[in-house]
Amino acid sequence: MTIQWFPGHMTKARRQIEAKLKLIDIVIELLDARIPISSRNPMIDEILSGKRRLVLLNKADLADPGITEEWVRFFADEGLQALPVDASSGMNVQQIFALSREILQDRLEAQRRKGMRPRAIRALIVGIPNVGKSTLINRLAGRSAAATGDRPGVTKGQQWIKVGHDMELLDTPGILWPKFEDQEVGLRLAATGAIKEEILNVDDVAFYAVKQLLQHYPDALRERYQVEYGEVDLDNPHEIVELMEAIGRRRGCLMSGGAIDLEKASLVILRDLRSGRLGRISLDRP
Ligand code: G4P
Repeated sequence: MTIQWFPGHMTKARRQIEAKLKLIDIVIELLDARIPISSRNPMIDEILSGKRRLVLLNKADLADPGITEEWVRFFADEGLQALPVDASSGMNVQQIFALSREILQDRLEAQRRKGMRPRAIRALIVGIPNVGKSTLINRLAGRSAAATGDRPGVTKGQQWIKVGHDMELLDTPGILWPKFEDQEVGLRLAATGAIKEEILNVDDVAFYAVKQLLQHYPDALRERYQVEYGEVDLDNPHEIVELMEAIGRRRGCLMSGGAIDLEKASLVILRDLRSGRLGRISLDRP
């Protein structure tokens, strides 16, 4: 679901998260592994104000593994532990428990020293829409526990969900808005499906995606669509559009007169990109 984020919604979303922060020990910040910076809320450090944090690079199954490793190092340099996960399959999800304990180790130690039995770690998942918050909650809870509440301003009774043997999650995740100011960020969000491409022009999003693919994954389009192309001049939009048309021709994206339907071709390319059929692709690079 796409949210129109107006300033009022952002303020409300922020307040809701700030209210929840009081209840929890650790924030699980969910980012899209293909676009860890573009899928990050621009005010996140300010909003979380020093709360302990574990960064998850979700949808790692769709991201370029080498680039994801670079991101893990990037976050480590920022002082943040980052773990690539795939919430749909559960890859690495069990590591969240141990890493959270590690991040809170000093506190758990202090409780033990005082003779207190450490209580369950309380966590909140935050992230922009579509990044996989509900999928992760369901995966961690091992059942269909999460109510998708992608509506800023809708408050629900909160509940703790027990996950693992020593963690509790707030059942409603914190929903954050992405960056909007930067056009390239918008294109990356749209290309990966974080925002509906209808907000932008479908052709523009696909054009951007094709250009990125040619630059960083030059064989991806050739392999998927069996189109032949030599050296494409990335600064020449005509050459990129011609390639998109060639893909459209290959896929039978034709209008009634027989002309190529570029919009249809664009949708084919974007669908394939998002589902991983063009390979494991990262659009943000450290
Ligand atoms: P949200 O609560 O943060 O809004 O996200 P949600 O869990 O609803 O997940 C959004 C989409 O992303 C879902 O696809 C979900 O299956 C997919 N997804 C979540 N985690 C992963 C992952 O690690 N890998 C992959 N490949 N996909 C993941 P969907 O139900 O098909 O929705 P849509 O594609 O129609 O948007």
